[in-house]
Amino acid sequence: MVQDTVLKNDWIVACRSTDLQDQPKQIVIMGERIVLFRNDEGVHAFKDLCIHRGAALSLGCVRDGKLVCPYHGWEYESTGACVKIPQLPEDQAIPGKARALSYGCTERYGFIWVNLGNNQPEMFPLPEFGEPGFRNVIWGPQSVHAKPPRVVENFLDVGHLAVVHEGYLGVAEHREIGDYRVHRTETSIYSDEIAVFQPDPDGSGQAKHVYYTYEILRPLSVKFTKRDRETGHLMSILLTVAPTEEGKTVAYGVLSFNYETGTTDEEIVEFQNMIFAQDKPIVENQKPEDLPLDLQMELSLKCDRVSIAYRQYLQELGVTLGTA
Ligand code: FES
Ligand code: CO
Repeated sequence: MVQDTVLKNDWIVACRSTDLQDQPKQIVIMGERIVLFRNDEGVHAFKDLCIHRGAALSLGCVRDGKLVCPYHGWEYESTGACVKIPQLPEDQAIPGKARALSYGCTERYGFIWVNLGNNQPEMFPLPEFGEPGFRNVIWGPQSVHAKPPRVVENFLDVGHLAVVHEGYLGVAEHREIGDYRVHRTETSIYSDEIAVFQPDPDGSGQAKHVYYTYEILRPLSVKFTKRDRETGHLMSILLTVAPTEEGKTVAYGVLSFNYETGTTDEEIVEFQNMIFAQDKPIVENQKPEDLPLDLQMELSLKCDRVSIAYRQYLQELGVTLGTA
């Protein structure tokens, strides 16, 4: 798989916090098999490979806070150091080379994140998460047969709402998008509020304009906030995606609401799954599979300013995975 040093040095979503309990768990990121485990010290990620005979550590278990290899029972502590080799007579020291390769691992916003570069970069802010007055609903995983930047760009695309999601996120009579700008600060790239006419933006049955602000936080983490100017209702969705195997992406999200939706978490997730299922065939069949960074390759409109900004951002950072 393509080695992308920018993405390798960023936090990539691995799974939901709730997916990692007492048992170790295997995940694949950028073609790399990784084992995650949890103990009293927190969450940890190692290359899913025992240095003794190459067994997958994820088939083992966590005992007294150590990750135990399923094959010969070697025990690894949080740092990756092997602290017990059952076959070794007691008077013999554990070889210094007996280590698992450990990666950066952290738990934030309802997810476990890994960092293959092990440089512990700062996590992007998500003020809605844990903020009083906001309800957060975790969404995903959803697998897509497409490269990550195509999935992210679809999420940043305001023009498709009244077409692909007609009747849900837009209406056929209001497809035009007003002019807007994209702004840039040290830490984020965001759009002006963009008016979108929706048949029922908040479940009250009232069709009206709502205002979308798109934000690019990281190459694989983006957000929009939908604001109802009359009621002050805010709804935001963070989308974060993981490149797993070549040509495959797994998507997760955090949906945040500052108002009573009248729906359960399950219903919110189900609606989001339905919307995502509408996007999936589009994204899985876009050509080229790599997002073209050469803006001349496709024909953009003014309303595509967010996706143009996204492409420029990827280009500046030097993201190679899924771009061309
Ligand atoms: Fe892991 Fe032997 S392969 S202990
Ligand atoms: Co869509």
